[in-house]
Amino acid sequence: MPDAVIAATGLYTPPNRLSNAELVETFNAYVERFNKANAKAIAAGEVAALMPSSPEFIEKASGIKSRYVFDKTGLVDPELMRPIIPDRPNEQLSVLAEMAVEAAMDALVSWDKPASEIDAVICAASNMQRAYPAMAIEVQNALGIEGFAFDMNVACSSATFGIKTAADFIKTGSAKAVLMVNPEICSGHLNFRDRDSHFIFGDVATAVILEASDQAVGGWEILGTRLKTQFSNNIRNNYGFLNRADPDGVGKPDKLFVQEGRKVFREVVPMVSEMIVEHANDIGVDTARLKRLWLHQANINMNELIGRRVLGREPEPGENVIILDEYANTSSAGSIIAFHKTNDDFRTGDLGLICSFGAGYSAGTVFVRKR
Ligand code: COA
Repeated sequence: MPDAVIAATGLYTPPNRLSNAELVETFNAYVERFNKANAKAIAAGEVAALMPSSPEFIEKASGIKSRYVFDKTGLVDPELMRPIIPDRPNEQLSVLAEMAVEAAMDALVSWDKPASEIDAVICAASNMQRAYPAMAIEVQNALGIEGFAFDMNVACSSATFGIKTAADFIKTGSAKAVLMVNPEICSGHLNFRDRDSHFIFGDVATAVILEASDQAVGGWEILGTRLKTQFSNNIRNNYGFLNRADPDGVGKPDKLFVQEGRKVFREVVPMVSEMIVEHANDIGVDTARLKRLWLHQANINMNELIGRRVLGREPEPGENVIILDEYANTSSAGSIIAFHKTNDDFRTGDLGLICSFGAGYSAGTVFVRKR
């Protein structure tokens, strides 16, 4: 059976860029209103006053300077502080599928083959728009693809888990070419009234086409894929179909993204660094020869630490790719955006690593070599 090759990637970036300053202006307006409205209770010690946010903190703590969002109007309105994305009729392409299709079409252009040559679609993302039918089947239908399609969710690690799944389909002969899409509307699950996390996420969609090596022209040989999960409550979102069955459930804040950021930082950095080094050793890849690291994009300080541990030295400029300054954390799409934007200069034989990590905990490593 042939090996799998990453044949092409695609990116869809929503048109609305939202800077830290804009985000903080809205947050601080909300804080001011809240503190004013609750002045008496705050003075009596019954309610805690809210603290303002600051662009300086956000950039220093995370490296994030801006993010792209599907809808900006709702996010800059202190009365709303959530995106405005009206429901669409069933006959119309849903928002998440639309973003995925845009990214897929970008990938198809660089693949230079028609969508009809794809025989499986995987939608791998942190948040599906609905329970069913699968987003992937809607994307498959929109692109006129035959075969099969399904959704999978491994939070921020969804894309590497999707790559591994697609590569295994190709290796076992279940498919010759697989489209794997990662539409992420992270603004939909973010609590914009939470000072600790209101700045973290952005919206985007990425696409990866994987193909059997015996028919692929160029692309990226997959040298090895490895997945790891380890249960943790430190990143969690309890939104789900049983919420309506909980008599006390209405309005609880845990139905959006919540995290213990410090703990995540402390626990995930060693877990991921060790996993990368072990995987590299097991498949005979010298990490010192890695030309580029395309890591999950959640926090610049985390990535710098992991980069140093993996390479065993300070990474050269551009070696450890950072796109979160512009895009923020885009969940599963982050490492794929990094890969998509910074691989043009690779020559045959050059090595790189795509790596994701996040809620679960979950982590995935994909070592690639330019063909
Ligand atoms: N503006 C200004 N100050 C803020 C603030 C904000 N928006 N949010 C928090 N602070 C303050 C806190 O009150 C705290 O003050 P104190 O020291 O006086 O108590 C201080 O800044 C530190 O807060 P903390 O939340 O501990 O910051 P941090 O340095 O850990 O950075 C994260 C926060 C979330 C950026 C960081 O922990 C992180 O990125 N962790 C990893 C998260 C991750 O990878 N998650 C995966 C998601 S998929």
